[in-house]
Amino acid sequence: MNIRDSEIMAQKLAEAGYLETSVLEDASLILLNTCSVRGKAEQKVFSMLGSLRKLKAENPDLKICVAGCVAQQEGQKIIDRMEHVNLVIGTQHIYNIPELLERSTNNKTAINLSDSYEIPKYIPQVSGHPAPAPQISDSQQFQFSRFVTIMQGCNNFCTYCVVPYTRGREVSRKATDIVNEIQTLIEAGVVEITLLGQNVNSYGCTNPVTHGALPYSFPDLLAEVSSISGLQRLRFTTSHPKDLSERLIECFDQIDNLCPQIHLPVQSGSDRILKRMNRKYCISDYLEKVDLLKAIRPDIAITTDIIVGFPGETEEDFQQTLELLERVRYHGSFSFKYSDRPETRAADLDGKLSEAEKGRRLQEFQKRQDEISLERNREYVGYQKSILVENNSEGKMMGRTVTNHIVHVEQAPDHIVPGSLVTAEIIHAGRHSLKGAIPPSRI
Ligand code: 5AD
Ligand code: SF4
Repeated sequence: MNIRDSEIMAQKLAEAGYLETSVLEDASLILLNTCSVRGKAEQKVFSMLGSLRKLKAENPDLKICVAGCVAQQEGQKIIDRMEHVNLVIGTQHIYNIPELLERSTNNKTAINLSDSYEIPKYIPQVSGHPAPAPQISDSQQFQFSRFVTIMQGCNNFCTYCVVPYTRGREVSRKATDIVNEIQTLIEAGVVEITLLGQNVNSYGCTNPVTHGALPYSFPDLLAEVSSISGLQRLRFTTSHPKDLSERLIECFDQIDNLCPQIHLPVQSGSDRILKRMNRKYCISDYLEKVDLLKAIRPDIAITTDIIVGFPGETEEDFQQTLELLERVRYHGSFSFKYSDRPETRAADLDGKLSEAEKGRRLQEFQKRQDEISLERNREYVGYQKSILVENNSEGKMMGRTVTNHIVHVEQAPDHIVPGSLVTAEIIHAGRHSLKGAIPPSRI
């Protein structure tokens, strides 16, 4: 979501005549797009801002702007503590960034935050041509694979999560705007699209999207988008397990270009903790959906998010998370130590664990996940897989499989350009990536 927001801001700035530089000292504007989902991300923003003081002292004309969730939530604190910041903008203002910068002066910090409950009814369509992608990443992947926001905000209020406070209530974008944006991207050479939302499964639920007189939900959108000519690969993220319907699961069987990959955050393997997290499902519901996904698409790669050390998590609860890991055998997972976030209900819960205990659990979890990821990755060795090439220079090529595994290919022919789909034979598996070779018949 933040990558997409950064792209939008970069695009808006480019349209207003700004040029990008990769040299910090050369910049006349430094824009930090921030994440506050966990405490650590927020600390990084404050330390980065601190280190920019020196640059500002050397170059008083430099403008420093803070955007994103930390800005939304801690805007006043930034203004109070960071007098060298020129502009603080909340999550709803990314589309107006050039105008807001124009209005901000160099001797007083401007602040533009929204009450997060007042969300525009429709997310505005980004104007202008969408490609080439802004160079916010070293990878050329973004030229060929792009994110498209279909909804923003969240109504779920998981007790640990700051998102409903920083991004406000759920709003779905009009299907026609989404389809038009994807069509424009494909015309510009994009071959892979990832539909983005905090909980894509509830697309169209809160501000119903209609098509004629019929209600229109996420599986309808998937079907419509998948049939846009030229789209090779379609993905979506993120799915809340409680809203993963059978109809959506069936899409993995029915839609050819929907990649067999799903990120399905479970957060904990203990029903007691899931209840305290307000996740609204239990492990048996979750496993039923996982089993159905695997039955319908045996080659599907499932990944997840885990929080260890949620307030009140006992050793037994944690063991249940490890048991879940063995049962699902996730291809990969993102795991985090629980951290208190402002305004959330979990911050007031009893039973906080020490940092040391959270650290121990995290390490134990990650060690086992790494072993499983390696075992999973070894299942690909000896098979030929289609990969979408992201980089190819000096004989070193990198791309991704439909299951989103990174494949490195050595001695790749020069003529294979980024954005092409090639077949590689998987010859070696590591924990986080695979190694492949192009079979001579395919060169
Ligand atoms: N502490 C730790 N992890 C968190 N996440 C969200 N909020 C917190 C928190 N307070 C994790 C969840 C979520 C991912 C994006 O970040 O696992 O799925
Ligand atoms: Fe946060 Fe829960 Fe919404 Fe995900 S579903 S963004 S974890 S409140």
